[in-house]
Amino acid sequence: MNIEAGSEKKQVYFKNLKFYIHTFGCQMNENDSERIGGILAQEGAQKSNSLENSNLIIVNTCAVRQKSEEKLFSFLGRLTRIKKRKNLIIGIVGCVAQLHRAQLLEKNSGVDFVLGPDNYSDLNQVILKHFGEKFMATRWSREWKEIPSEHILRKSDISAFVTIMEGCNNFCSYCIVPFTRGREKFRPFSNIIKEVRDLADNGYKEIQFLGQNVNSYGDASSGKDFSALLREVNSIPGIEWIRFITSHPTNFTQDIALAMKEGEKICPQLHLPLQSGSSSVLRRMNRGYTRDEYLEKIKLLRDLMPGISLSTDIIVGFPGETEKEFQDTLKILEEVRYTNIFSFRYSPRPLTAASRMRDDVPFEVKKRRLIEVQELQKSIQLEKNESMVGRVIKVLCLGKSKKNPQVFSGRNEGFQVVNFKSPKDLTGEFAPVLITSCGPHSLQGEKANNY
Ligand code: 5AD
Ligand code: SF4
Repeated sequence: MNIEAGSEKKQVYFKNLKFYIHTFGCQMNENDSERIGGILAQEGAQKSNSLENSNLIIVNTCAVRQKSEEKLFSFLGRLTRIKKRKNLIIGIVGCVAQLHRAQLLEKNSGVDFVLGPDNYSDLNQVILKHFGEKFMATRWSREWKEIPSEHILRKSDISAFVTIMEGCNNFCSYCIVPFTRGREKFRPFSNIIKEVRDLADNGYKEIQFLGQNVNSYGDASSGKDFSALLREVNSIPGIEWIRFITSHPTNFTQDIALAMKEGEKICPQLHLPLQSGSSSVLRRMNRGYTRDEYLEKIKLLRDLMPGISLSTDIIVGFPGETEKEFQDTLKILEEVRYTNIFSFRYSPRPLTAASRMRDDVPFEVKKRRLIEVQELQKSIQLEKNESMVGRVIKVLCLGKSKKNPQVFSGRNEGFQVVNFKSPKDLTGEFAPVLITSCGPHSLQGEKANNY
């Protein structure tokens, strides 16, 4: 059935919708969910905070690793059981939706619609057009599709995500993203600036630019690149901290490093995915840089910003990874001494070049290598954090700690979690915090009187 846009039926339809969005995956997905929520709320639908109290459930999915995909399928089982008891529309969106659209929409799956990552702006139209029937929208467009930022239902009113590009052209041999999100597209420069200004007007203190490969940002009509974007937002009053994720080492230029150094609001913090410390593995991964080239970028960054906080992603057990190649990863971790890392066991993903290589590192070996990486990194982090005990650092307070409501939780410039005691609620404010103790993954402290 087709409900006409603008009709009374449409208004009633959206008014009766109570939606719940469940998000798997990265910050990009988090922000997509906030944007999807905004699209629905704009038409009068209401956000619900529980599965049970909603009649539209949207699951925003991640396909980057096999494990994330498995999590979706078990969650889907739970939803179909709820659907047997009550009237419910189930929509699957995001990367798994793009990848397994037909399977997800199978007759008895319980899923009503499937929407790929490039189709969110059409959400309301497709819901109306296909009212009561199963449908999918998974086409990629070559053009940037703007989702009006005024309606975004943001989780935080202190720190905001701002998407600046979509898709990826790099085709790292293990990665499914180019097949789920399509080719790179860049958001118009003026739209980004407008969103950041609006955020500043609404009292936001921190923004995080998002994209699969933010460093390759380029706006064709204005000719502005990523470093120009950083310089411009640095001048917007109100916003005090600026960060971005994710960077590709190949596209990370000296000019971007300079923009970071010069921009006093750009946090001296960078997530620069390495993946492997071995040049031969990097070649098989199609990463486009060698171990030495990566280390040169780190040197450039540290020369410009000696205290910069660095984090990275590591994959262990890539096809053909020898013990020697793995040791090169351990060595580089010791050399760079990251503030934080995200490490994964390689898992083959459909459509990727690496899925056609022999996945020959035994599971037990991958497991052991992952433990070795994590143990080494844990000791590095503990040492680095211990060196901060006794220092007073600047923290943006994000609210009460979820684990312990007696303390506040925030982040420092280096994007580390800091839990601290304070006699006064400092949510949304910057505060000097004296670090009194630490673990490998967090810092604890108390509010100080000055820096
Ligand atoms: N197997 C394991 N880890 C992967 N990643 C991406 N694809 C795979 C895969 N097939 C990791 C990379 C990437 C992060 C988001 O997920 O480290 O940077
Ligand atoms: Fe995947 Fe590589 Fe693109 Fe990152 S740069 S999204 S790892 S293909």
